[in-house]
Amino acid sequence: MKTIVYFYSHKGSNRYLAHRIAKDLNCEIEEIKPRLSSQLLMLMKLNLGNRKLKTNIVNYERVILCGPIWMGQLIVPLKNFVIKYNSKINNLIFVTCCGSTFDKKDEKFGHNLVFNELKTLSGTKCSHCEAFPIALVLPDEQKEDSDAFMKTHLNDQNFNGEIVEIYTKFIHTIKVL
Ligand SMILES: Cc1cc2nc3c(=O)[nH]c(=O)nc-3n(C[C@H](O)[C@H](O)[C@H](O)COP(=O)(O)O)c2cc1C
Repeated sequence: MKTIVYFYSHKGSNRYLAHRIAKDLNCEIEEIKPRLSSQLLMLMKLNLGNRKLKTNIVNYERVILCGPIWMGQLIVPLKNFVIKYNSKINNLIFVTCCGSTFDKKDEKFGHNLVFNELKTLSGTKCSHCEAFPIALVLPDEQKEDSDAFMKTHLNDQNFNGEIVEIYTKFIHTIKVL
């Protein structure tokens, strides 16, 4: 299936994840660039839209969208992307490297709420959502430490152990979807 990864990342974890997925699927990748790059303004929901994509989304049978979660919501650049391109997408997969753990996925800031928001926004297009909580790369004693996971970003050194198991299953799942 001809696939492309579109991603937005502020601190680098979702950039790392998106590039890894594109490499493993041997597919194209493009960064989503909001016209306003200030995280504060985005959090305040100030919205000037995203810059035009370089790739033509209609050329792909499947779109993998990758980006962070802030304040329990689908962030502005990702929301703009879905609103603008949903009608041109056949099959959408959403992936996030986020702060919320699997235990807390249904809480106020949990990733499941964002998965539901995305599924509502994209209608029948979204076939799969997957979370890679940053705590997966932290030692046990830091897994509940919010300061530690705000300071931790995915990279080649910490992408090992539990996160690789989940990631490998994810790649296998989407290869057979
Ligand atoms: C202002 C802010 C709010 C956040 N809110 C949430 C949240 O509600 N739920 C969550 O799972 N993670 C939350 N996070 C954690 C980010 O999703 C996580 O750090 C992510 O890996 C950052 O991705 P990036 O490195 O690609 O920018 C928040 C991070 C920031 C900076």
